[in-house]
Amino acid sequence: MAADPLLKWREEFPILSRKTYLINNSLGPMPRRVYDGLKHFADMWNDRGVVAWHDPPEDNWLHECEEVAGLIGSVMGAPRGSVMLHLNVATLTAQVLSSINFSGRRNRIVYDDMQFTSPHYVCQQWTRYGAELTIVKSDDRIGVDVQKLVDAIDDRTAIVPISHVYFRSAYLQDVKPIIEKAHKVGAKVLLDVYQSIGTVPFNVTDLNVDYAVGGSVKWVCGGPNVCYLYVRPDLMPGYKPALTGWISHARPFKFEMEFEPAADAWRISTGTPPVVALYSVRPGYEIIRQVGLDKIREKSVRLTTHLFEKAGEAGFKVNSPADPNRRGGTVCIDFANAEEAHHDLIRRGYVVDYRPGGGIRVSPHFFNTKEECDAILAEMKKLRKA
Ligand SMILES: Cc1ncc(COP(=O)(O)O)c(C=O)c1O
Repeated sequence: MAADPLLKWREEFPILSRKTYLINNSLGPMPRRVYDGLKHFADMWNDRGVVAWHDPPEDNWLHECEEVAGLIGSVMGAPRGSVMLHLNVATLTAQVLSSINFSGRRNRIVYDDMQFTSPHYVCQQWTRYGAELTIVKSDDRIGVDVQKLVDAIDDRTAIVPISHVYFRSAYLQDVKPIIEKAHKVGAKVLLDVYQSIGTVPFNVTDLNVDYAVGGSVKWVCGGPNVCYLYVRPDLMPGYKPALTGWISHARPFKFEMEFEPAADAWRISTGTPPVVALYSVRPGYEIIRQVGLDKIREKSVRLTTHLFEKAGEAGFKVNSPADPNRRGGTVCIDFANAEEAHHDLIRRGYVVDYRPGGGIRVSPHFFNTKEECDAILAEMKKLRKA
């Protein structure tokens, strides 16, 4: 069999020579070029001091915010100027909700009980501002029937904040009918793409989604605190969040007391942007673009299908979808002592994590091999208590 051309990328990620790294849906491995990026940040600070914020024109901190936002946008089909950076998804969810008036009849937030906790907790807190939650239940704790979600969206719905791929099971939601229904009744959709970006190809423009939110630490192999919000360009002029700050102003360096939102994506920002972190994410996004999402997805489906089948044959409970078209990049494998076993796996050099109700999340990426998937399954069989 011909050698897998994607394996040449392994040398870009030093940890892969020391560990069986299969937790790419939680924290991707660090690209070696991140050392250069972070050193460059330190050199800019040390050599130029405060001037590094804006000088020289092509290599300064504010410019880098726009460049990295543009790069992230390019991975999800967002036009330049429609994305801006933030610390985390929780804050961005709060920001989007803060742009909506929940005091009237249209006060419903519709989502499901498989969502990540950050946006869920924020939505719960928004009931203090008049929001009413409609939470659709999963029947099998793996996926959520898209028709149930579509039916729950009505003319009282303000926003539908849902994940593209569910963190606990890797269920890949069919978001198109949800977006279409929301638009039909005048509601908006906030799509959390954190678990899909870098492993499942998608295009926010083609999806016609209103907002998309996510971060950089998972499949795109970046460091923490470079999260982002995409606002559909035609919605940008009307996007007026209450959660704002000095750098969102049309003229931030004039420090005017009257607030006027920036005309461009800076209005999504709040206060000082996550500058240090910026320099830890560029190599990962660049590598993902170079490898190509179609190739990444093709390999992901191949490896997750292999894992799914072999885990089933070995008698493990698999809490991920059987249908590869409804599965993101992860296979969640459960057994009675799975939580305890995942610590042993890490001690033995197999890097994975465990989520209650999901199991051990095994998430191969383009640089992983079938042999690594077989090896972790063999190790789990040894660790499983009857
Ligand atoms: C779907 C999803 N959304 C968001 C997050 C992270 O949220 P935050 O940026 O608030 O930590 C995660 C996991 O870390 C996730 O899996």
